[in-house]
Amino acid sequence: MISNINRSNCIYELNYDFDTERLLKEFNESDLATFSSYNETWERSGKLGEYSQNIIDIFDDMIDGRVIGLFYNQPAGTAVKLHRDMNCKSKINIILSHGGSTLMMGGHEIKYETALLNVHEVEHSVSVAPFNRSMLSVVFMENGFHEVKEKITNG
Ligand SMILES: [Fe+2]
Repeated sequence: MISNINRSNCIYELNYDFDTERLLKEFNESDLATFSSYNETWERSGKLGEYSQNIIDIFDDMIDGRVIGLFYNQPAGTAVKLHRDMNCKSKINIILSHGGSTLMMGGHEIKYETALLNVHEVEHSVSVAPFNRSMLSVVFMENGFHEVKEKITNG
C-alpha cells in the first residue's frame, strides 16, 4: 500500500466554470441506487441529463479511450471506506455538494471543487459527511491519471 505519496501524484485541480445549478437539477433527476457491497450506502447513477452528458462528451473527444459519466451520492451520516477504483483508470470529479466531508488520499487531506484524481493507483477514503456529498464523475476507463493530465493540459 502506498500511504504517503506526493500530492501532485494524487490530484490535479481544474478550473472549469460549470453551471452547478444545472448539474444539481440533472443530479436530482437521475436514478441513484446503491452499487457496492463494500460501501453499502454509497449511491450512483449513469442517467445523465443533456448538460452533464455534454461535459462527458468534451472529455471523451480529448481522450482516445472509453469515457463514461456517473453521478455519485454519499448520503449524510455515511463515510466512504478506504479503497482504490479498480474498474477505471482515473476520474475527474466535479463536486456538486461538499457535504462537509474530507477526501483522504495518499496521506493528504484534500479539498477541491473540480479535479482529476489518481483513484486507480492511490488508496482513498472520505470522512463521514454531515450532509449529502454529491458529484459528477468523468470516468476514464482506459486512461490513467498522468496520461489524462497530459492530454487535458497539452491538448
Ligand atoms: Fe474511489
